[in-house]
Amino acid sequence: MEGIGALFDSISNRYDRFNHTSSMGIDRIWRRKAIKSLPKCETILDVAAGTADLCIEAVKRGKAVRVVGIDISEGMLNVGREKVSKSGFDGSIELIVADCAKLPFPGNSFDAVTCGYGVRNFAELDRCLLEMYRVLKSGGQLRILEFTYPQSRFVRFFYDFYFTRIVPKIGRKLTDNDEAFAYFVNSVKNFAKGKDFLAILERNGFADARFKSQTFGISTLYSACKR
Ligand SMILES: C[S@@+](CC[C@H](N)C(=O)[O-])C[C@H]1O[C@@H](n2cnc3c(N)ncnc32)[C@H](O)[C@@H]1O
Repeated sequence: MEGIGALFDSISNRYDRFNHTSSMGIDRIWRRKAIKSLPKCETILDVAAGTADLCIEAVKRGKAVRVVGIDISEGMLNVGREKVSKSGFDGSIELIVADCAKLPFPGNSFDAVTCGYGVRNFAELDRCLLEMYRVLKSGGQLRILEFTYPQSRFVRFFYDFYFTRIVPKIGRKLTDNDEAFAYFVNSVKNFAKGKDFLAILERNGFADARFKSQTFGISTLYSACKR
């Protein structure tokens, strides 16, 4: 766990640039769609909040009065705090260092829980999902965005070329950290996708689990709720 936190600490200052450059800016659209799919509510918990993009998007779109973001990387949250301050949303967004496997909140306290590109990094995935379920109010909504390895052979051909030839160069230039970069590519390829991830959500109690592929299946939006 500390390993992942330290890894994100080490790239925190360049994380946003790497993200937006390697996805050619499309990641902003994926996040916007995830937040737009939520009903308006009082409180949202964003786990693995990183540099707070989903938190800011949620408040900007008027989806919640209060958003709490948690992450194990203080470095990522510090970048997020600067962005929150610049956006003028300090009064609505709170960023806290915490492990998703042990959330510091009572049960049934949030109307929605979101997670952007975080679940594949969780050392204890089931424990984290159970915690997300516990803090969600009954009837509350879950939205998870995750990178996925595309199904189509045709798309895979371009994906493999882009991710094994081009993105490593971008990663090395922007983050100067080979370890972080190799981790990113492998973690995407090895993580459960589509129906397999829906089964993981269901075994952790979530209902109405469904998914929507984004941009040729390279990102996926998972939705579910707590009955
Ligand atoms: C790829 S970043 C995603 C950041 C942000 N949500 C976004 O949409 O860009 C993954 C984040 O997960 C965090 N993370 C990994 N394991 C975690 C855990 N167990 N609890 C909380 N955060 C965790 C990392 O520190 C990192 O900031």
